[in-house]
Amino acid sequence: MKWYDLNARELPWRSTKNPYHIWICEIVLQQTRVEQGKNHYLNFIERFPEVKSLAYAHTDEVLLYWKGLGYYSRAINLHTAAQQIMTDFNGIFPNHFEEILKLKGVGKYTAAAVASICFDEKIPAIDGNFYRVLSRIFADDFDISSSKAYQYFYNLALLIMPDERPGDFNQAIMDIGSEVCKPKNPNCEVCPVRDNCLAFGIGNVQDFPLKSKK
Ligand code: ADE
Repeated sequence: MKWYDLNARELPWRSTKNPYHIWICEIVLQQTRVEQGKNHYLNFIERFPEVKSLAYAHTDEVLLYWKGLGYYSRAINLHTAAQQIMTDFNGIFPNHFEEILKLKGVGKYTAAAVASICFDEKIPAIDGNFYRVLSRIFADDFDISSSKAYQYFYNLALLIMPDERPGDFNQAIMDIGSEVCKPKNPNCEVCPVRDNCLAFGIGNVQDFPLKSKK
């Protein structure tokens, strides 16, 4: 967390806890790199600043604002989910993990990101980056292609997740995963948890994570 306070990437969604905006950002970033997604995110929330404006928009226009991002089902699902919030949640963005998970197109990772960043729920947002960082810290050779990997790493993440600032913790792992603990050529020399990283200690960071199936 100290590292994050000093080194967090400055990103347009880092200055808000508006769950609608964080949700849009997380959906944009699902299959899109941060650098590419930034402007789309900003243009999207400028045109559709709240749930209502998205819910009442014409599908064609929603798709227009998704142009260039690909995987258009994401945009269709956003539109459907905005309408779902209007009908099922009185137009108010749901404020608990389990409720957020009910939205069309929202999986556990996205629900965890929104719930932790916006509502301080202590829920790890487990994705491929998190698998890699955790498997290295614990020199853990649990196979990440196993169907049990999610639950396994979820439990492991809870062991190191602080009670305070769960959203910043999840985003710190995202930043460490993308800037430091990279799949190839990780920058261990600048890693804030190097001294606690078992794989670094053993000298076999490259062996993690273990993935048996492609
Ligand atoms: N990738 C997915 N969500 C992100 C976030 N909130 N910040 C940075 N990168 C991300």
